[in-house]
Amino acid sequence: MKTVMKRILSKLYNSSPKEISKYVGKRIGLPRKLSDRMRSVDSYAVNSKAEEIYDALQRKFEIYTTFNLKGITVEEFKKSIQSLIGTVDAQIEGYSENEIEQQRDLSIKFHWGHNHDFGDFKLKGRMGNRHINLLANFIDLFPVSLDDFKDKYVFDIGCWTGGTTLLLATLANKVYAIEEVKKYAETVSFLSKSFGISDRILVNSLSIYGCNSKEFYDQFDIVYFPGVIYHLSDPLLALRILFNSLKVGGFILVESAGINTEEPFCGFDGSLIYHSGTKERMNRGGWNWFRPSPSALYRMMKEAGFDEIQTQWHHKSGRVYGFGRKLSQVGICKAGLSVPNIR
Ligand SMILES: C[S@@+](CC[C@H](N)C(=O)[O-])C[C@H]1O[C@@H](n2cnc3c(N)ncnc32)[C@H](O)[C@@H]1O
Repeated sequence: MKTVMKRILSKLYNSSPKEISKYVGKRIGLPRKLSDRMRSVDSYAVNSKAEEIYDALQRKFEIYTTFNLKGITVEEFKKSIQSLIGTVDAQIEGYSENEIEQQRDLSIKFHWGHNHDFGDFKLKGRMGNRHINLLANFIDLFPVSLDDFKDKYVFDIGCWTGGTTLLLATLANKVYAIEEVKKYAETVSFLSKSFGISDRILVNSLSIYGCNSKEFYDQFDIVYFPGVIYHLSDPLLALRILFNSLKVGGFILVESAGINTEEPFCGFDGSLIYHSGTKERMNRGGWNWFRPSPSALYRMMKEAGFDEIQTQWHHKSGRVYGFGRKLSQVGICKAGLSVPNIR
């Protein structure tokens, strides 16, 4: 009975069962923090279908075990991956001695991105099961279904060690993944070769700002853009580049750290997320520039050319989510753009 009650309360209060446990069965009222959350909770948090989609996606991701390796032994595969983790590689990434201090930890040291159970061994990622959670949330929040990915060409931006890319490849026909950090792009290439799907996963060690050219115009059915926009110095330019990369009729899914206000505001963090602790902790995920509110993200997407835009605050993760469609190749206001000759 207590467990069922905790589960219901945890849904109602948009809080973890562990947090609820502190209050259930005790003769005290729910604290202010939780009742405030109750007031701001939206119908999404109560009626979520995300858990069901999450399970379906997790089952799809399970194909990426050592059982399905092609042309490489389990030992070679395991050794290649494990030897990378923790490697310090600022020089390989192209940083000179005097700028290493300013770089984010993720760029100069190899960190695994998303949790992966390879069967013979498991890797814990810095982002946990975010790759699965994200897609489940997008489908829960917006007019998008798993079937919308079928036979489609998806552009995966900032793929890290490929959790998102591999998952998208279970749904879509083809995925083109880009990543500004060389070692992560190489890792995703290695994974796609090892699972025998390099014809369906193309990977390029490229910044989003390197995609502002004709060969990227009108290429993709879906742009997948979670966890990156707040890391960018010029989010509007990035959105325009991605708008240009979509075919007419295609859509974009955006997710970001943000601020929960109705005003069209952005928080500015700079290169350190935490202001104390070890150096590694201080720039753990690294360098947050502009964190948009849902209405700021809405406006940016509108400026970039998108239509049918929906943005919203996701209470459970404390992040902002967005959806938009390219209905036609509309123009953009060029005043002040860092690349004024952009299409
Ligand atoms: C927080 S991780 C998000 C990973 C994955 N997209 C997800 O949502 O789980 C951000 C990733 O984007 C990459 N990134 C940051 N700026 C980028 C840029 N300008 N172009 C391409 N990738 C970038 C980072 O190196 C990192 O791997």
